[in-house]
Amino acid sequence: MGFKEVPSAIIFCLLLLFCLGCRCLASELVATQTATLKVDASPQLARKIPETLFGIFFEEINHAGAGGIWAELVSNRGFEAGGPHTPSNIDPWSIIGDDSSIFVATDRTSCFSRNIVALRMEVLCDDCPTGGVGIYNPGFWGMNIEDGKAYNLVMYVNSPETTDLTISLTSSDGLQNLASATVTVSGASNWTKLEQKLVAKGTNRTSRLQITCNKKGVVWFDQVSLMPEDTYKGHGFRTELISMLLDLKPRFLRFPGGCFVEGDWLRNAFRWRESIGPWEERPGHFGDVWHYWTDDGLGYYEFLQLAEDLGAAPIWVFNNGVSHNDEVDTAAIAPFVKDVLDSLEFARGSANSTWGSVRASMGHPEPFPVKYVAIGNEDCGKKFYRGNYLKFYNAIRQAYPDIQMISNCDGSSKPLDHPADLYDFHVYTDSKTLFNMRTTFDRTSRSGPKAFVSEYAVWRSDAGRGSLLASLAEAAFLTGLEKNSDIVQMASYAPLFVNDNDQTRWNPDAIVFNSWQHYGTPSYWMQTLFRESSGAMIHPITISSGYSGSLAASAITWQDSDTSYLRIKVVNFGSDAVSLTISTSGLEASVNALVSTSTVLTSANVMDENSFSNPTKVAPVKSELSNAAEQMKVTLAPHSFNTFDLALAQSKLVAEM
Ligand code: AHR
Repeated sequence: MGFKEVPSAIIFCLLLLFCLGCRCLASELVATQTATLKVDASPQLARKIPETLFGIFFEEINHAGAGGIWAELVSNRGFEAGGPHTPSNIDPWSIIGDDSSIFVATDRTSCFSRNIVALRMEVLCDDCPTGGVGIYNPGFWGMNIEDGKAYNLVMYVNSPETTDLTISLTSSDGLQNLASATVTVSGASNWTKLEQKLVAKGTNRTSRLQITCNKKGVVWFDQVSLMPEDTYKGHGFRTELISMLLDLKPRFLRFPGGCFVEGDWLRNAFRWRESIGPWEERPGHFGDVWHYWTDDGLGYYEFLQLAEDLGAAPIWVFNNGVSHNDEVDTAAIAPFVKDVLDSLEFARGSANSTWGSVRASMGHPEPFPVKYVAIGNEDCGKKFYRGNYLKFYNAIRQAYPDIQMISNCDGSSKPLDHPADLYDFHVYTDSKTLFNMRTTFDRTSRSGPKAFVSEYAVWRSDAGRGSLLASLAEAAFLTGLEKNSDIVQMASYAPLFVNDNDQTRWNPDAIVFNSWQHYGTPSYWMQTLFRESSGAMIHPITISSGYSGSLAASAITWQDSDTSYLRIKVVNFGSDAVSLTISTSGLEASVNALVSTSTVLTSANVMDENSFSNPTKVAPVKSELSNAAEQMKVTLAPHSFNTFDLALAQSKLVAEM
C-alpha cells in the first residue's frame, strides 16, 4: 500500500462506517403511522406569495432596544430616569467613596433644555483615597468590555475650577482595570463636551464605567455615553444581534411596539418627535407598560435606519390618541394627526422640507420608504378608536395616497365598518389551539382588506422559555398563512428579543441575549425555514392519512442564485413517527437528487429549549436527500418540523461537473 493510498482508504472506511451508523440511527425510527402527501406543482395552479409575507416585529420590551440591540453601554446617561423633580433617584449610577468624601445630587442646570436634569458631584476630601472618589455606571446588568476593542466616551461636564477626571472601565467591583484615561476639565463654568476613546486591555462581561477625581471641588455631569466603536455599519446596533435578524431575511420591520406605542397612560407613550435629533438633546421616557426607562438613543430615525439596514419595509405603528387607560377625544385629535403627518414628512419628505431637513441633518438625505402605517395597537374596542382612526386615515390618504393603512380591528370573522388596507390580527395561545388555527384563514372572506398577523406565538405553559412544542405549532400555523397568502399579506412572531436579565416581562421570545451571548429559541429557528417563502410560488397539496390531524404541510417553489427548489414543509405535531410518501405532479423540470436536501427541527423531548450553554440543542439539522424524486418516501420523526428541498433541473454545480 503506497503512502498516498492510506488516507483515502481510511476516509473510505470512515465514510462507510458513518453511513452505516446513519442507517442504524434512521432505522431506529420506527414509523407507526403512514401518510401520503400529494403536491400539484403545475404552474397553472401555482400562486405567488406576497413579497412581504414574513417579517419581524420589534418592540421595546424586555430591554430589546435599551440594553439590547442598541449598543449604548450607559444606562440613564442623562440622569433623567428619576423624573424631572430634583433631587431624584440616579439609578443605576452609584458613588465611589463615602458620605465624608463625596456628595452627589441631581439638579436642573443642564445645558440641554429638553432634558434639564444634570448631576452635581461635590468632592469633599482634601486628601482623597488612592484611586479617587466619583461615580460609576454598570450599564444594563454590566457592560461587555472586550480585549483590544475600542469604546468611545462622550460626556458633558461643567466645572468652576480646572480639575482632572479619570475615566476607567473596570470590573463590577472596580478592582480590575480594563482601560483608563485622564482628561482635564478647564474651570470655566461652561458646559463642555469631552470625548475620549478607551481601548480595553482585557475582557470582562460585567464591567462598569467609572469617573473619578482626587481634587476637592464641584463638577457637573450630563449626557454620559459610552458606545463600542464596532457597531453594525457604524449605525449603533449590536452586530451579532443584527446578524440574527439578517438570517431571517425579514421583508418588513414593524416598530416600535406593541403596547410600548400605546403606553399605560398617554403621557408615557412613545413620541417620535422626542426621539429624533442629536442624542444629547433627547429627553428619554419611561415606558410604563414594560416598566423601564429608555434614553431613546434608539429613536424613530434609528428604527428607519434599522429597516434599511435589514432590507425590510418599515411599518410605523403610531399612537392614535389611545393608551391603555386614557384617550384623546376625537374632537381634540387634530394636533395628533398633524404630529403623525410630520413624522411621515420626516421619513419621506425631501431634504428641503421642514421635517425632511431634520432627517437630512441626521445623516440621511434620501427619504426612507415608509409605505405602511398602523393606526394604533390593539385599540379597536376603545371609545374613541374609530373616530380617531378615521381622522388619521383620511389625512394620511390625502397626503400620501400610496401609504397602506392598518386597522386594529379584526376583519377575519366579519367585515370592518371602516376603510383600511390591512387589518391587524394578534394571537397568543396554547400549542394545540395554534396548531388548529392553521385553517383559520381558509374561512376568511376574500374581499376587503388583507390580514396582517403582526403578533403570533405559543405562550404560557406550552412554551416555557421557548420550547420545541411551541415552534411546531407555530410552524403549522405559518403553513396555513402561506396557503392563505392571497388574503394574508404579512406575518411576524412576537416578541422578538429578550434580555435574559429581564425575563420577567414576557416569555417566550425569539432571541435571548445578555451583554455578550445570544441564542435563538426553537421559534427563531422555525422562522428561518420560512425565510424563502416571501415572493415564492405556492402549490396546492393534499394529505391522506388516518393521522392527518397531527400533520400540517405546504409546498412552495423558490429560487436561490442558481437553482430552483420545490420545498415541501411538513410538521409532525404528534408523538408517532410517520412514514410519508410524497408524490409530486406537474413539475416542469426533473429533480436533481445530488443537490437536494432535507432539514429537520426536532429534539428528544418536545419541551426541550435552547440556552446559553446549549444554544443549538433545538436547531435545524440539514442533510442530503439522496432519494429525492417525484415519488419518494421519507420518515418524519415524532414532534418534528421537516423541510424537503428538491432541486429542480441542473444547478451550476452539476452543469460544471
Ligand atoms: O408582544 C407583546 C405584547 O402583546 C404587545 O406589546 C401587544 O401588542 C400584545 O398584547
